[in-house]
Order: sequence, then C-alpha cells, then structure tokens
Amino acid sequence: MDKIIVLNGCVRKEMSRTLSLAKEIIKNFKNANIEWIDIQKLGFQPVDYETYILRSVGKCNPSVIKHAKKVQAADIIILVSPIWEMSVPAMVKTFFENISIPEITFRPVKDTCKGNCKARKMIFITTRGMNVKPYSELDGAAGELKALCSLWGIYEFEEVALNNCDYITPKEYEEAKEKLLKHLEKTNWYQKQ
Ligand SMILES: Cc1cc2nc3c(=O)[nH]c(=O)nc-3n(C[C@H](O)[C@H](O)[C@H](O)COP(=O)(O)O)c2cc1C
Repeated sequence: MDKIIVLNGCVRKEMSRTLSLAKEIIKNFKNANIEWIDIQKLGFQPVDYETYILRSVGKCNPSVIKHAKKVQAADIIILVSPIWEMSVPAMVKTFFENISIPEITFRPVKDTCKGNCKARKMIFITTRGMNVKPYSELDGAAGELKALCSLWGIYEFEEVALNNCDYITPKEYEEAKEKLLKHLEKTNWYQKQ
C-alpha cells in the first residue's frame, strides 16, 4: 500500500479554496495510507545563523528531522498550496528549507548531490488568482518545485491547478472545479499515479 504524504501549505485554513479542492481530489486515492501534515501548525522558522551552525554540527530540531524522514520515506508527496507572489507562500518554502537535509532527503556525492527520497512523484495541487501557465515567465512555482524534486531524487512532478480564481464568479469557479474533477476521473488519473 502506498504511503502518501500531503503537505498542506494553505494559509487561509478552512477559507482556502486550494484546501477544499485538494480534499475532493485526495479522497479519490484508494488503497493508500494518507497522512496530512499542516505546515502552518509546525511553526518552522527560516533557517537563521544559529540554526545553521547547530545543523552543521548535527544538532537539529527533532520535529524537523521527523518531518524530513516522513518526506524521505513517502511513495507520493502531494503539496497543497495556493500561489502567492508568483510562487508558493514563504511558509511552504520555509518548510522545505528546514527539511531538505543532507543524508536524509539528499546526499553529497563527489562534486554534486544525489537524491535520497523514495517518492516516485510530487503532485502540486494549487489555485491561483491569475491565469498563468506553469513554467511561463509569470510562474515561479513549478520550476522551483521540480528542481527541488530533482535534488531529492523525485523525477516526476505534476501540477494540478485551477487558474484565474480571483477573476471569475463563484459559479464559474464551481464549474471549473467540476470540470477538472471530471477530467481527472475520466482520464483515469487516480489509477495512473
Ligand atoms: C498574499 C497573497 C498573494 C497572492 N499572490 C498571487 C500571485 O502572485 N499570483 C496569483 O495568480 N494569485 C495570487 N494570489 C491569489 C491567490 O493565489 C488565489 O486567490 C488563490 O485561489 C487563493 O488560494 P486559497 O483560497 O487556497 O488561499 C495571492 C493571494 C494572496 C492572499
């Protein structure tokens, strides 16, 4: 049975349309052991000088290590996060900055790094205000997340997005959501993961 780890980076909690979209998608993953991690609740802080020095002598917050190991061991990682400032919110970046640890998520080898993560794929479920294509000049998320996946040894990355959410009516949003959910079902997307 697959272990799926869901990283919830939705700042607006129950108001979040990304979170509610993700819940509707993720409930269709059958026969999987799914664990949700609420990034906001962890309260990780950006790695500062003191944390960096402690890390360099092997001293790390046990919660950070625990979550790095969960990410390392998952079969699929699902990141659930809105787009803020053309990328993911700082809270999400801070989570990754903390848990991307040598000898856990990757390892230095000769003049480069090799990935240590087991996951075959990262799925990025997002909503954004504007209409932006992944990897276009207005998108700072997909390229960065894909690069992080490569560092960790995860070679498949897919974005599942609802765009233009701030500029359509609630009815149009619901229609777009239903269309996306139907498309995933019709194309056997869940079975292909
Ligand atoms: C602080 C903040 C920054 C945002 N920055 C962007 C942005 O750079 N590009 C964009 O398309 N939408 C941006 N938006 C709009 C959100 O991506 C959009 O409303 C999204 O659906 C919100 O998701 P949520 O309901 O899960 O919080 C921003 C919204 C907020 C609150």
